[in-house]
Amino acid sequence: MTRPTLNIALIGSGFMGRAHALAFAAADRTFELPLSPRVVLLADRDPATAQGAAASLGIPKASGDWREAIADPGIGMVAIATPNLLHAPIAIAALEAGKVVYCEKPLATTIADAEAMTAAAAASGRPTAVGFTYLYNPMIALARELIAAGEIGEVTAFRGIHAEDFMASADAPFNWRCEPDQAGGALADIGSHIIAMAQHLAGDIASVAGRLHTAYPTRRDAEGTDRAVTVDDQMDAVVAFANGATGTLAASWIASGHKMGLSFEISGTKGSISFTQEQFNELKLYRAGPGRTNGFTTICAGPEHGDYGAFCPAPGHQIGYNDLKTIEVKAAVEAAAGLPSAAKSFADALAVERVADAIRRSHREGGWVRP
Ligand SMILES: NC(=O)c1ccc[n+]([C@@H]2O[C@H](COP(=O)([O-])OP(=O)(O)OC[C@H]3O[C@@H](n4cnc5c(N)ncnc54)[C@H](O)[C@@H]3O)[C@@H](O)[C@H]2O)c1
Repeated sequence: MTRPTLNIALIGSGFMGRAHALAFAAADRTFELPLSPRVVLLADRDPATAQGAAASLGIPKASGDWREAIADPGIGMVAIATPNLLHAPIAIAALEAGKVVYCEKPLATTIADAEAMTAAAAASGRPTAVGFTYLYNPMIALARELIAAGEIGEVTAFRGIHAEDFMASADAPFNWRCEPDQAGGALADIGSHIIAMAQHLAGDIASVAGRLHTAYPTRRDAEGTDRAVTVDDQMDAVVAFANGATGTLAASWIASGHKMGLSFEISGTKGSISFTQEQFNELKLYRAGPGRTNGFTTICAGPEHGDYGAFCPAPGHQIGYNDLKTIEVKAAVEAAAGLPSAAKSFADALAVERVADAIRRSHREGGWVRP
C-alpha cells in the first residue's frame, strides 16, 4: 500500500543538517514508517550555501531564507539543525503555520524561549521531537528495560559525564558555541545530553548544586580577534533525584583525550550498569553476588536489542552514530503521524532546560536549587 508522503523542510546543513538528511533517507528504507519522509527543501544562511548542500544531499529545492519553508503549504515537517539562537523563532513560526517541528537540542537559549516553544506546541496541537540522539541507542533501550525489570534493584545513584575535547586546546577558535546569548558553553551544548540521559534512566531531578568553570578566558575568532569567553568550558553538579537516588552530572568540552565520552554508571541495590558512548555497542551489567568470578559482564549489541536488528541481523557487527540518528528520525516520523512514539517532545526538552538553568542559578547564587 502506498504511504502518504511527509514533506520536510530541513533548516541548516552543517554537522547536524547533514546527519538529518542522511537519516531521513535511511529511515524510509530501514523501518516500516507510517509516512514516507522526503526532504524537499533545504534552507541555509544564504542561497549559495543552501544550493551547494542541497545538490550534494539530493534535495530538490534550496533557499537562503528559512521563512520560505514556513510559507510553503506543502511542507508538513520543519527540521531545525541551525545554531541554537534560531531554534525558537523558526520553531514558533513553524508551529503557528501548523507544521510538525523536529528540533535539535538544546531546545532554546533561554528558559523563556523554551517555555514559549512548548506553549506554541501545545497551542498548535502539532507533534514535536527533539534531537537527543544518544537516548535512541539500542543499548540504552536495554538499560531502561533492565532497570524497569528490577535487574539492578532500586536505583541508588547515577554518575554521568558528557566529556569531549574539541575545545581543550587554547587554539580552539571562538565560534557560535562560545556566544553567551546563543546557549553557548559546555553545559548548554553537551550538558543537555547527559541531563536528558539521567532523566531518561533515573527519573526526574528534584534539586541541583552546580559549578561552572571557564578554563580559557579568551579565544581567537575566525577573523583573528581575541574574544572574551564568558561561557563555561566545564560544568559539575551534584543532583538529587525525585525518587531519592543521588548523583553527579558533568559536561566538559576540555576533557583532553575524550572524543565522545558520554559515560555513566547507575548503581542499584542489586547491581550496576556502566556505559560509554565511545563503545556504544556495549553495555556493562553487574549483578551483586558471591564468587571469585563475579563482576561486570559485557553485553554486545545484537538484533535482540532495540532497533539494532533493523540495521543488521548479526550481533557484534555494530551500528554507528548515523544509525542512532535514523532511529531518532523514526520516532519523529511516528510522532508526526500521531502514533505512540519514543520521540522526546518540547515538553521533555523544557524539563532538561530547567535542570540546566537550575545549575546556572546554583553557580551564581550558591546552594541547592530546584529546577
Ligand atoms: N544531536 C546531536 O548529537 C547533536 C550534535 C551536534 C550538534 N547538535 C545541535 O545541532 C544544531 C546545529 O549544530 P551543528 O553542529 O550542525 O552546527 P554547524 O555550525 O555545523 O551547522 C549549522 C548550520 O546552520 C546554518 N545556519 C546558520 N545561520 C542560519 C540561518 N540564519 N538560516 C538557516 N541556516 C543557518 C549554517 O550555515 C550551518 O549549515 C545545534 O543546535 C547543536 O546543538 C546536535
